[in-house]
Amino acid sequence: MPASFIPQLLFATAMCLFVLPQLVVIPASYSTPADPAPVPASYSTPYATPAAASPAPIPVVSFHDLSPHDLSPPSLAPLAASLSAAFSSHGFAILSNVSLPAAPELLAAAEGFFGEPLEAKMRHSHGPYGTPEGGYTPQGTESVSATLASSAPHARRTGADRVENFVFRSMHSDDRDERLHPPELYTAGKRYFDEASGVLRLLNRLACEALGCPDAEYFNRRFWDGKGSNFDATPQNGNSLRLSHYPPAAPPTCAADGCGGEAERIRYGAHTDYQTFTLLLQDPRDHRGGFGGLEVLVGADWVPVLPPEGNNPGTVSLIVNCGDLTEVWSNGLWKSNLHRVTNPTSEEGWAQGRISVPFFTGPKDDTLVEPLAAAVERAGGRRFESVGAKEHLMRKLGLSNE
Ligand SMILES: *[C@@H]1O[C@H](CO)[C@@H](O)[C@H](O)[C@H]1NC(C)=O
Repeated sequence: MPASFIPQLLFATAMCLFVLPQLVVIPASYSTPADPAPVPASYSTPYATPAAASPAPIPVVSFHDLSPHDLSPPSLAPLAASLSAAFSSHGFAILSNVSLPAAPELLAAAEGFFGEPLEAKMRHSHGPYGTPEGGYTPQGTESVSATLASSAPHARRTGADRVENFVFRSMHSDDRDERLHPPELYTAGKRYFDEASGVLRLLNRLACEALGCPDAEYFNRRFWDGKGSNFDATPQNGNSLRLSHYPPAAPPTCAADGCGGEAERIRYGAHTDYQTFTLLLQDPRDHRGGFGGLEVLVGADWVPVLPPEGNNPGTVSLIVNCGDLTEVWSNGLWKSNLHRVTNPTSEEGWAQGRISVPFFTGPKDDTLVEPLAAAVERAGGRRFESVGAKEHLMRKLGLSNE
């Protein structure tokens, strides 16, 4: 097997190890590797500098006219068309000028929390990654690197790949999350969760507009019971907010004859996201000053997701991509695309550390995801089986087990 597939397989193994013991839970934030796909040779070269002028950059769609909470903006059609084009070609879009006022506060609270001693952080740990309570998981308890560290031949080289996480699962309307989580982080996390849920509601409407749902709230109803509250979902939906902290580290050293396994390990191996849209807060430093960052496979190229210049003051860019369930709903018109997170490419990059803030989204557990009739018609036939939101996880795990 080509060495370049190894990180994907390990990723799959990691998913099984951490998900299987708790299948009753839908771990919203898991993504599973796609079926084997052509992986370009550059995959195993994390130090490769991303092409400055990429042939097909990730499309930027400006949200400057929209309030995330406004569910009936004047005309969704042009935005829906731009998003649809991006999701068809790349499976990704950068939403610029998005109003997410809680973002700076959340980043500051996350820095504060991750800066605390391990013992203090462990008081907010409620079990392995994917528990319904969410909370803290220390370095080495999940991700590709954890699996490498315990079971791979490269184990002795794995010291540098480290990530610690804090997860907010779907927020509840009672105060149980407030009691579980550190107060400052909870306050900022809840605000951000709410604001990001607002963006998701809007995206769901745009998706309906673009894909031709039976009605405009078709997707939203599969996430929430009512129209009013982002907390109101029975059974629980798959939304979860993850804060990932990659601490500053020394660059991995390479021997004279090459870097071996160490250099093949990147911050996140190539994978597709398992559920619906993922909304990732874009770090303006991405791919600048050797900082590394997200890359998307387009054709045979890994395309860096470059932060656009010129957001209006007080707004941010969100990288949005389609997960596997979105691909099913859209009958394959929109892609659930392979992506990965590369390492820093400079000493300064390694020295800076990184906080990554993905908001993973998924419909309620009991949702049957079926290709939309309009999308089947457009594609000239049905390309995907219907799948239960919960079953989908099992199936992906089965595949990744083979
Ligand atoms: C943000 O919106 C303004 C208009 O208010 C627009 O001129 C600008 O190009 C947008 N920025 C980005 C990065 O899309």
